[in-house]
Amino acid sequence: MTFSVPLAGVMGWPVEHSLSPKLHGFWLGQMAIKGYYLPLMVQPTELARALWSLPALGFRGVNITVPHKEHAIHLVDEVAPIAHKIGAVNTITVKKDGSLHGTNTDAFGFIENLNACAPGWEVGRPVLVIGAGGAARAVCVGLLEAGATEIRICNRTRSKSERLAREIEGNCIAVDWTDRSAACEDVGLLVNTSSLGMRGAEPLSIDLARLPKDAVVSDIVYVPLETPLLVAAKLRGNTVVDGLGMLLYQAQPGFRSWFGKKPEVTSGLRAHVITE
Ligand code: ATR
Repeated sequence: MTFSVPLAGVMGWPVEHSLSPKLHGFWLGQMAIKGYYLPLMVQPTELARALWSLPALGFRGVNITVPHKEHAIHLVDEVAPIAHKIGAVNTITVKKDGSLHGTNTDAFGFIENLNACAPGWEVGRPVLVIGAGGAARAVCVGLLEAGATEIRICNRTRSKSERLAREIEGNCIAVDWTDRSAACEDVGLLVNTSSLGMRGAEPLSIDLARLPKDAVVSDIVYVPLETPLLVAAKLRGNTVVDGLGMLLYQAQPGFRSWFGKKPEVTSGLRAHVITE
């Protein structure tokens, strides 16, 4: 059965803080598409039932956010290779036959944003990634697909950085948490994927003295937009890339697949999404 009004949404628990309805709503309005993108509050125990109801409800697909991304990979009919590599699904499309296709657009979003905000970043220089959680995994996969030759993964819990370095194929090295400042030597890109620097959390404590002045510094935290790390990096002349862009770019493929048109990431969209 085909439904004339295209529907999509984001499943999370909680979901009220998600910026996705605002950003997809902006694109729908801009393109005058008569469709809806809804926040869908789904308890972890209800995820399977909620996902499997999407075809009957006429949904074209959904985004998946915390805490469902890892679980969702086991519930869809088809998993894209990139989602397998990242170990999580963030974008699901309902196919014509009612089956669910899951992919992950976080790595794409990270790299697209980097290319847009720091077009001169050099993939051939070492990268230092702070953190080893789900976001770090997506960032590392994106970097490796883009051609990164050396990734230093530095995490408070060393066993997790070792595991991540082992699991993703590429030249990834686990670095001790106490060596994070020394590991800035020679890097062309420093990325914070940890929750440090987020509003309400302590800042990332790192000495940038050894970081080359032409290195790019990126933070995936976007509340606040200018984290203490980005402020410090900017002060010493490094190019900085905030975390909001990744969120905007990762949304592009889903919108295109559900609503049929490629949306643009513009300053107008950024301004709309960050206004209260
Ligand atoms: P996400 O999916 O967003 O990456 P996550 O998997 O919970 O979230 O990962 C959070 C990351 O922030 C982890 O790398 C975590 O380090 P640990 O693996 O040691 O827990 C890091 N992190 C959170 N709080 C931290 C803190 N106070 N100091 C250092 N790292 C911290």
